[in-house]
Amino acid sequence: MHDEETLLLTNCHVASMAGGSGYGAVHDAALLIDNGKIRWLGTRSDAPRTGVRRIDLGGRWVTPGLIDCHTHLVFGGNRAGEFEQRLKGASYEQIARAGGGIMSTVAATRASTEEELIKGAIPRLRSLAASGVTTIEIKSGYGLDLQSELKMLRAARELESKVPMNVVTTFLGLHAVPPEFASRPDDYVEIVIKAALPVVAEERLASAVDAYLETIAFSEEQVERYFAAATALGLKRKLHADQLASGNGAHLASRAKALSADHLEYLDEAGAKAMASAGVAAVLLPGAFLTLRETKVPPVDLLRAAGVDMAVATDCNPGTSPMTSMLLAMNLGCTLFGLTPFEALKGATINAAKALGHDDEIGSIEPGKAADLAVWDVAGPAELSYWLGHSPLHTRFKGGVEVGLSHRERIAELEPGRRVDQSRVAHEARV
Ligand code: NIG
Ligand code: FE
Repeated sequence: MHDEETLLLTNCHVASMAGGSGYGAVHDAALLIDNGKIRWLGTRSDAPRTGVRRIDLGGRWVTPGLIDCHTHLVFGGNRAGEFEQRLKGASYEQIARAGGGIMSTVAATRASTEEELIKGAIPRLRSLAASGVTTIEIKSGYGLDLQSELKMLRAARELESKVPMNVVTTFLGLHAVPPEFASRPDDYVEIVIKAALPVVAEERLASAVDAYLETIAFSEEQVERYFAAATALGLKRKLHADQLASGNGAHLASRAKALSADHLEYLDEAGAKAMASAGVAAVLLPGAFLTLRETKVPPVDLLRAAGVDMAVATDCNPGTSPMTSMLLAMNLGCTLFGLTPFEALKGATINAAKALGHDDEIGSIEPGKAADLAVWDVAGPAELSYWLGHSPLHTRFKGGVEVGLSHRERIAELEPGRRVDQSRVAHEARV
């Protein structure tokens, strides 16, 4: 199967997520894919009848491939021990201040080779793929020295060749103050600005930068300087903001014209309004909220009232959110934060694309956008937020190529001359 081929997906229902107020549902639909892009969407009776290869989707639902717009997927080791400590009553801050938390992952990540990081991340990425994800954002931030940060970003990039997935990388230079700079955090910020940012920009290892604005991490003034330097180098901005306490994060992200402000448990009305007028997306991370057993939920009603685009993501990381399912993130967005299933799907598609600055290419099923799709065994799109731990995914398409659930071998299976597994592709026929 070649991606320049014209392909018609037929006998399906489509939630296009184009147009804002509803699912953009097209029943008894067909979808024409050309050169890896969506060329046409309409009802089956209006579809071209000849000259194209067709795949009958057996009445299944098609959505845009899901987008996990906030992850720390690449890391060494894991923090199950810290999980046990927290269950016995230790807080995230206490563990961090005692040198554990992010720092223990930094030590394990520095000690890993690029290959080891890739090998460790593949099963998590496959799990995300099996939950319908076709694009993932991956942050660095567990290296905290130039070589280790670059190693993380290269590992993240390399994952695209291991699992069929679009990977968007973000440089999280200001995640934590590394131990060697413990007494002089400003020197660390200076080094990140002078030595790391130019290399990241020059080698195009990331399209955006991120920072952790929190009393246990970096100050407003430090983040502001870092953002200014990143902006000057053409890098976009994202921010871990207002997660554990109110810290003006939404305002800072808005002043910096960031793509997104993420977490936002302590966001207030003025912050939500600032984000709306600056066009900053809100990325809600219920996995971290659940894992840390937080009690203050992000103010979804204020975000709604202000008209902020809300995205949902896994925040997959070893400390606060060891979660590898976008469907679970959507479910928790509904059950813990009060999103509607429609808002959750929007948050996993078009709004997640906005949070990455790629909404002109992905996130909805519209002519001209990439044919990145998820095909589901569900009776309607609300069911995607309903299951807890089950993935009704039937198959995925990336750039118009059927890539199945998670395995690259699936592409080989579909190459011409090879037998197609009929149990996984509903029906395929040449007309
Ligand atoms: O998004 N907030 C900071 N970063 C991660 C947690 C990282 C960790 O604990 O390893 C987060 O929650
Ligand atoms: Fe995070």
